Amino acid sequence: MYELFDTIIATYKGKPGALLSVLEEVQRNTEHTYLNEQALLYIAEKMQVPLSQVYSVATFYSFFNLKPQGEHTITVCRGTACHTRGSKPLLDDVMAMLGLIETEEGEDESSYTTEDMRFTVRTVACFGQCALAPVLAVDEVIYSKMTADKLATLLKQLMAKKVKA
Ligand code: FES
Repeated sequence: MYELFDTIIATYKGKPGALLSVLEEVQRNTEHTYLNEQALLYIAEKMQVPLSQVYSVATFYSFFNLKPQGEHTITVCRGTACHTRGSKPLLDDVMAMLGLIETEEGEDESSYTTEDMRFTVRTVACFGQCALAPVLAVDEVIYSKMTADKLATLLKQLMAKKVKA
Protein backbone atom coordinates (compact mmCIF):
# COMPACT_ATOMS: atom_id res chain seq x y z
CA MET A 1 0.00 0.00 0.00
CA TYR A 2 2.77 2.43 0.93
CA GLU A 3 4.45 1.69 -2.39
CA LEU A 4 1.33 2.95 -4.14
CA PHE A 5 1.28 6.04 -1.91
CA ASP A 6 4.92 6.71 -2.86
CA THR A 7 4.05 6.48 -6.55
CA ILE A 8 1.11 8.85 -6.12
CA ILE A 9 3.19 11.33 -4.13
CA ALA A 10 5.99 11.20 -6.72
CA THR A 11 3.46 11.85 -9.52
CA TYR A 12 2.29 15.13 -7.98
CA LYS A 13 5.53 16.28 -6.34
CA GLY A 14 6.16 19.98 -6.98
CA LYS A 15 2.88 20.49 -8.83
CA PRO A 16 0.33 23.10 -7.73
CA GLY A 17 -2.32 21.63 -5.45
CA ALA A 18 -0.19 18.53 -4.93
CA LEU A 19 -1.57 17.76 -1.48
CA LEU A 20 -5.18 17.89 -2.68
CA SER A 21 -4.41 15.67 -5.67
CA VAL A 22 -2.48 13.16 -3.56
CA LEU A 23 -5.31 12.93 -1.02
CA GLU A 24 -7.86 12.46 -3.80
CA GLU A 25 -5.92 9.69 -5.45
CA VAL A 26 -5.04 7.93 -2.22
CA GLN A 27 -8.72 7.96 -1.23
CA ARG A 28 -9.74 6.62 -4.65
CA ASN A 29 -7.26 3.77 -4.32
CA THR A 30 -8.07 2.84 -0.73
CA GLU A 31 -10.54 0.07 0.04
CA HIS A 32 -13.84 1.61 1.13
CA THR A 33 -12.84 4.96 -0.39
CA TYR A 34 -11.58 6.83 2.64
CA LEU A 35 -8.50 8.39 4.17
CA ASN A 36 -7.43 6.55 7.27
CA GLU A 37 -5.15 7.87 9.97
CA GLN A 38 -2.10 5.93 8.82
CA ALA A 39 -2.51 7.27 5.29
CA LEU A 40 -2.75 10.86 6.53
CA LEU A 41 0.32 10.41 8.74
CA TYR A 42 2.27 8.84 5.90
CA ILE A 43 1.33 11.56 3.43
CA ALA A 44 2.26 14.31 5.90
CA GLU A 45 5.63 12.75 6.56
CA LYS A 46 6.48 11.95 2.95
CA MET A 47 5.32 15.32 1.60
CA GLN A 48 6.89 17.17 4.52
CA VAL A 49 3.66 18.96 5.25
CA PRO A 50 2.44 19.51 8.83
CA LEU A 51 -0.12 16.88 9.82
CA SER A 52 -2.48 19.69 10.88
CA GLN A 53 -2.46 20.99 7.29
CA VAL A 54 -3.19 17.53 5.89
CA TYR A 55 -6.08 17.19 8.33
CA SER A 56 -7.46 20.61 7.55
CA VAL A 57 -7.56 19.83 3.81
CA ALA A 58 -9.07 16.39 4.42
CA THR A 59 -11.78 17.82 6.66
CA PHE A 60 -12.50 20.98 4.63
CA TYR A 61 -13.62 19.28 1.43
CA SER A 62 -16.79 17.25 1.72
CA PHE A 63 -15.63 14.75 -0.91
CA PHE A 64 -12.98 13.43 1.44
CA ASN A 65 -14.11 10.64 3.72
CA LEU A 66 -12.49 9.95 7.05
CA LYS A 67 -14.63 6.86 7.60
CA PRO A 68 -14.97 3.72 5.46
CA GLN A 69 -17.64 4.15 2.79
CA GLY A 70 -20.15 1.71 1.38
CA GLU A 71 -20.04 0.33 -2.14
CA HIS A 72 -22.86 2.70 -3.11
CA THR A 73 -23.41 6.20 -1.78
CA ILE A 74 -26.88 7.67 -1.61
CA THR A 75 -26.81 11.43 -1.17
CA VAL A 76 -30.04 13.17 -0.25
CA CYS A 77 -30.30 16.93 -0.74
CA ARG A 78 -31.43 18.77 2.38
CA GLY A 79 -31.46 22.26 0.92
CA THR A 80 -34.50 24.50 1.29
CA ALA A 81 -36.09 23.73 -2.09
CA CYS A 82 -35.72 20.01 -1.59
CA HIS A 83 -36.81 20.23 2.03
CA THR A 84 -40.04 21.98 1.11
CA ARG A 85 -40.69 19.29 -1.48
CA GLY A 86 -40.26 16.40 0.92
CA SER A 87 -36.59 15.47 1.12
CA LYS A 88 -36.77 14.66 4.84
CA PRO A 89 -39.35 11.88 4.42
CA LEU A 90 -37.23 10.57 1.52
CA LEU A 91 -34.16 10.54 3.74
CA ASP A 92 -36.16 8.75 6.45
CA ASP A 93 -37.30 6.17 3.86
CA VAL A 94 -33.73 5.51 2.70
CA MET A 95 -32.51 5.11 6.27
CA ALA A 96 -35.40 2.81 7.18
CA MET A 97 -35.04 0.65 4.07
CA LEU A 98 -31.35 0.18 4.76
CA GLY A 99 -31.88 -0.41 8.48
CA LEU A 100 -29.88 2.65 9.49
CA ILE A 101 -30.66 4.75 12.54
CA GLU A 102 -30.04 8.48 12.57
CA THR A 103 -28.16 9.72 15.62
CA GLU A 104 -29.70 12.31 17.90
CA GLU A 105 -29.83 15.84 16.58
CA GLY A 106 -26.74 17.74 17.51
CA GLU A 107 -24.45 14.74 17.18
CA ASP A 108 -21.95 15.13 14.42
CA GLU A 109 -22.71 12.28 12.06
CA SER A 110 -22.24 13.29 8.46
CA SER A 111 -22.82 9.86 6.97
CA TYR A 112 -24.18 6.45 7.85
CA THR A 113 -22.93 3.16 6.46
CA THR A 114 -24.60 -0.23 6.57
CA GLU A 115 -22.76 -2.97 8.44
CA ASP A 116 -22.28 -4.99 5.27
CA MET A 117 -20.52 -1.96 3.75
CA ARG A 118 -22.85 -1.91 0.77
CA PHE A 119 -24.45 1.50 1.30
CA THR A 120 -23.53 4.88 2.70
CA VAL A 121 -26.19 7.52 3.18
CA ARG A 122 -25.23 11.17 3.42
CA THR A 123 -26.82 14.55 2.91
CA VAL A 124 -25.77 17.57 0.92
CA ALA A 125 -26.71 21.25 1.31
CA CYS A 126 -27.71 21.72 -2.36
CA PHE A 127 -26.99 20.00 -5.68
CA GLY A 128 -27.63 23.26 -7.53
CA GLN A 129 -30.68 21.73 -9.22
CA CYS A 130 -33.35 23.26 -7.02
CA ALA A 131 -35.90 23.54 -9.86
CA LEU A 132 -35.88 19.74 -10.01
CA ALA A 133 -36.40 19.21 -6.28
CA PRO A 134 -36.43 16.92 -4.49
CA VAL A 135 -33.08 15.68 -5.71
CA LEU A 136 -30.91 12.79 -4.62
CA ALA A 137 -27.90 11.01 -6.05
CA VAL A 138 -26.84 7.40 -6.16
CA ASP A 139 -23.10 7.35 -6.63
CA GLU A 140 -22.54 9.78 -9.53
CA VAL A 141 -26.08 9.69 -10.93
CA ILE A 142 -28.54 12.46 -10.00
CA TYR A 143 -32.24 11.67 -9.70
CA SER A 144 -34.64 14.59 -9.78
CA LYS A 145 -38.29 15.05 -8.80
CA MET A 146 -37.89 12.02 -6.60
CA THR A 147 -40.94 10.41 -5.05
CA ALA A 148 -41.27 7.77 -2.35
CA ASP A 149 -42.34 5.20 -4.96
CA LYS A 150 -39.49 5.96 -7.34
CA LEU A 151 -37.07 5.81 -4.42
CA ALA A 152 -38.38 2.45 -3.22
CA THR A 153 -37.97 0.98 -6.72
CA LEU A 154 -34.48 2.41 -7.07
CA LEU A 155 -33.37 1.06 -3.70
CA LYS A 156 -34.83 -2.38 -4.39
CA GLN A 157 -32.89 -2.51 -7.65
CA LEU A 158 -29.69 -1.48 -5.91
CA MET A 159 -30.16 -3.95 -3.07
CA ALA A 160 -30.78 -6.77 -5.55
CA LYS A 161 -27.51 -6.02 -7.36
CA LYS A 162 -24.69 -8.42 -6.77
CA VAL A 163 -22.00 -7.39 -4.33
CA LYS A 164 -18.82 -6.18 -6.08
CA ALA A 165 -16.25 -8.95 -6.27
S1 FES B 1 -32.00 22.55 -2.52
FE1 FES B 1 -31.87 20.57 -3.37
S2 FES B 1 -30.94 20.91 -5.27
FE2 FES B 1 -30.94 22.86 -4.35
